[in-house]
Amino acid sequence: MCGIIGIVGRAPVQERLIETLRRLEYRGYDSAGVAMVADGRVDRRRARGKIRALEDVLRDQPLDGLTGVGHTRWATHGAPSETNAHPQRAGRVTLVHNGIIENFAELKAELAAEGRTFESETDTEVIPHLIDRALAQGLAPLDALKSTLDRLRGAFALAVLIDGEDELILGARRGSPLVVGYGDGEMYLGSDALAVGPMTNRIAYLDEGDYVAIDRTTARIFDAEGRPVTRQIRIIPPAAALVEKGNYRHFMEKEIHDQPGACQHTLSAYLDPVSGRARAPDGLDFSRVDRIQIVACGTAYYAGLISRYLFESLARIPVDIDVASEFRYRAPPVREGTLCIVVSQSGETADTLAALRWCREQGLSTAAVVNVHTSTMAREADILLPTHAGPEIGVASTKAFTSQVAALSALAVAAASAKGRIDAAEEARLTRLLLEAPRLISAALALEEPIRALAPELAKARDVLYFGRGVMSALALEGALKLKEISYIHAEGYPAGELKHGPIALIDEATPVIVLAPSDALFEKTVSNTAEVMARGGPVIFITDEEGARRAPAGVRLIVAPGCDDIVAPLVYAVPIQMLAYYVAVQKGADVDQPRNLAKSVTVE
Ligand code: F6R
Repeated sequence: MCGIIGIVGRAPVQERLIETLRRLEYRGYDSAGVAMVADGRVDRRRARGKIRALEDVLRDQPLDGLTGVGHTRWATHGAPSETNAHPQRAGRVTLVHNGIIENFAELKAELAAEGRTFESETDTEVIPHLIDRALAQGLAPLDALKSTLDRLRGAFALAVLIDGEDELILGARRGSPLVVGYGDGEMYLGSDALAVGPMTNRIAYLDEGDYVAIDRTTARIFDAEGRPVTRQIRIIPPAAALVEKGNYRHFMEKEIHDQPGACQHTLSAYLDPVSGRARAPDGLDFSRVDRIQIVACGTAYYAGLISRYLFESLARIPVDIDVASEFRYRAPPVREGTLCIVVSQSGETADTLAALRWCREQGLSTAAVVNVHTSTMAREADILLPTHAGPEIGVASTKAFTSQVAALSALAVAAASAKGRIDAAEEARLTRLLLEAPRLISAALALEEPIRALAPELAKARDVLYFGRGVMSALALEGALKLKEISYIHAEGYPAGELKHGPIALIDEATPVIVLAPSDALFEKTVSNTAEVMARGGPVIFITDEEGARRAPAGVRLIVAPGCDDIVAPLVYAVPIQMLAYYVAVQKGADVDQPRNLAKSVTVE
């Protein structure tokens, strides 16, 4: 979603606002803007498009000021345009907003009836109007903010400047995250730790409903009821170094190559190579878990889908899995003994967070597989199940996905052991196999050249299909998502056995089919399904291992991945499908790290 920064500084802030927005661009990138206050007057600059467009505007018309806010936008209400870009302004009030105001239409009607005029199509613009109206009625800035917050429904993180207040930024959060950064004679507001990371490592996370006033040295924080509160200041490790591309052309390429390390760090949190034991964190006792409910969105959902095979086959725990945006609306019956596991890279995805809260309200125990350990989900779930992928900047998830799969696979082994479904020797064997994943992922990275060679052909396709069986059917869905989101080629994933029930009608000479076919127990059946595709002229890229290559149908293009056990196959086969999507997108000249219409962290429902 949108990215927010606010600085009450000791020195002019324009450069730092822009630098921060560049770092936050992954949260949204269809327009951007900054506002600064100097000599009691707030001025703003905005531009449609990426941060560089805003930089061009500022080069011609720079702003001055030690206090300022900035915003990079992912449009919800109102097309990307300069008028709809933030900061939005009304009267004395200028602000940036991340989230959605659900009751903006009724508020707008109320304000319009009083003669207030609106220049944008955004839901946001009602907020500065409400604050400005309250100021005009004589309220002090913090009271004007509080009275406005009481009128808003929906999700928001805000940073607000007021004419005449050279050393003040107001902030508020409900639904969307906001952090306060404590600097040396400077204070900051930001949408996440990355926003303020290079300026300070001292950060306080605002709680749901909190609002705040920062000046150069202090933050006055209040809870939703208006009571002064303190929020713990945490020391956050320096993040800036982790978000450099190094020699790679794109973050996605770097992050694909980061995967051996990311998986190793993640697995070492759950697996002990010496004792051969898989361990769940304290507080998570799988022997008392009768059922698992997994909830997630997008790629994280597919990681959950993969893990279902393992929890069910190894631990014999039944698993329900839902996409988060549907989950609570189908009002699933709640059974005692169910563990709800949410899976999320960001830990902020609005639908997943809402599902987590819903499960808590129903009295279920909750666990969150998250990569951002300070995120809202990490803080609100009963149990944190961390992945250790490091910051993921490319919008298309790669290393966060494999780290989620790694963590969940290790937990499935821990669950199987806790349930008495496997003995110590089998636990040690599975632990050893999983610990081989980083090496096997490294070996799969060597497929880069053969995969790059396929890209020119695939880039011409209008549609691409992905098939697999068993756990590979879940990975097929992820393969299709990866391709469509960064190359804009229409792609679908299917369980190979479903082919004959409809999708086979799509097959012709122009529709490439990617088959994920490790030489496992279902290999023969996958080969038969592949033959059905080939009989209809579909060109097939067959991703398999050496054994599978020997038994592959004639006429397929082979990609030979490292041979591996079933338990690590999703981690190993993830690499070629990610690289395939990457090189096809590069071939098409697409914006790999910031695909159109997407945002890294989806904090609206
Ligand atoms: C696709 C992708 C998305 C995310 C989804 C959930 O490559 O990254 O589908 O997986 O938006 O995001 P998180 O994991 O942050 O909850």
